Amino acid sequence: MRRAVCPGSFDPITNGHLDIISRASRLYDEVYVAVMINKAKKGLFEVDERLDLIRQVTAEYGNVRVEAFHGLLVDFCKQRDIPAIVKGLRAVSDFDYELQMAQMNIGLSGVETLFVPTNPTYSFLSSSLVKEVATWGGDISHLVPPLVLDALNKRLRKD
Ligand code: PNS
Repeated sequence: MRRAVCPGSFDPITNGHLDIISRASRLYDEVYVAVMINKAKKGLFEVDERLDLIRQVTAEYGNVRVEAFHGLLVDFCKQRDIPAIVKGLRAVSDFDYELQMAQMNIGLSGVETLFVPTNPTYSFLSSSLVKEVATWGGDISHLVPPLVLDALNKRLRKD
């Protein structure tokens, strides 16, 4: 069975993430979406909420599993026999840090990183920008799945 992981913070998942996950799901038998637990940084959504949103918006793919992790990504991979990390590259500005992480990860454990060029429609997109625009009432309906849009509107209205 060919397995890969798409890791990230996913606070919250955007259409850019979903594009990479859906493309990975066509290339691999099983794709793990791994949501990093970062105790030092409180997100807009709790990790359980992020997992729930990702599970719902990836359910249609059929071969995507969604889990949280803390610690090293390569340990998550080792425990599940995952040989490949799939990452989206939005622009050259992503490349330096992504290359460092890819080289560190292969050096630590032999886990490969495969870069997928982001769909140009989403090359400017990040969870942080989505949150910022949504906070000030901007239209983000074309940037996140409808379920995530609802969750963002509820959360930002409540806070
Ligand atoms: O969505 P993000 O915040 O850009 O995702 C970053 C993530 C989670 C992919 C990266 O920080 C990561 O892999 N963290 C796990 C800890 C780890 O393995 N660090 C060493 C990487 S070389």
